[in-house]
Amino acid sequence: MAALIRTANKGDAGELARIYNHYVTATHMSFETEKVPVAEMARRVGETLAMPLPWLVAEQTGQVAGFAFAARWKSRDAYRYVAESSIYLDPAMIGCGHGLRLYTALIDAIRDLSVHSVIGVIALPNEPSISLHERLGFRKCAHFEQVGYKHDRWIDVGYWQLLL
Ligand SMILES: CC(C)(COP(=O)(O)OP(=O)(O)OC[C@H]1O[C@@H](n2cnc3c(N)ncnc32)[C@H](O)[C@@H]1OP(=O)(O)O)[C@@H](O)C(=O)NCCC(=O)NCCS
Repeated sequence: MAALIRTANKGDAGELARIYNHYVTATHMSFETEKVPVAEMARRVGETLAMPLPWLVAEQTGQVAGFAFAARWKSRDAYRYVAESSIYLDPAMIGCGHGLRLYTALIDAIRDLSVHSVIGVIALPNEPSISLHERLGFRKCAHFEQVGYKHDRWIDVGYWQLLL
């Protein structure tokens, strides 16, 4: 059965933190290095929705399977038509089509806000994420070498951009 895609609420914060903190502690995919507390996750959801920007969850039989959200790219005013997009799935839910449905819904919600450009920031390597972005029309526009340092090694970052 296809997952339900809906707007996140602060009550999801525990599940969002559980999923996200896996990527914080076990992978280079998030550049955060300390687990995000549930209360901080709730604050982030509230702040994003108040912008207003989308924060969506995919829910499978009552369980949060993953989430995707938008953030402002930079705070200076001329950047106001640019959003940064992010997506994280429960590792147990990867490869079932949730990512494509959730990210498509996120892009549609961003488009509805008259945003002109979306940027996905990908810590490399990450072939599934690159492929997902390119499947949705994003094109690589920048590559920064060795800008992250996590788990005792340097990490490159690529930017993928979608003009809406
Ligand atoms: C990236 C991610 C969201 C993809 O979600 P998913 O549910 O596994 O992806 P889907 O099953 O919906 O597949 C959608 C597309 O993603 C790409 N993809 C997914 N898994 C892939 C894999 N193992 N290898 C290459 N491409 C893959 C493909 O383009 C696929 O389209 P296709 O099925 O037509 O080939 C998921 O793997 C994830 O959460 N990864 C960890 C967190 C992460 O990397 N987030 C992005 C940070 S920039």
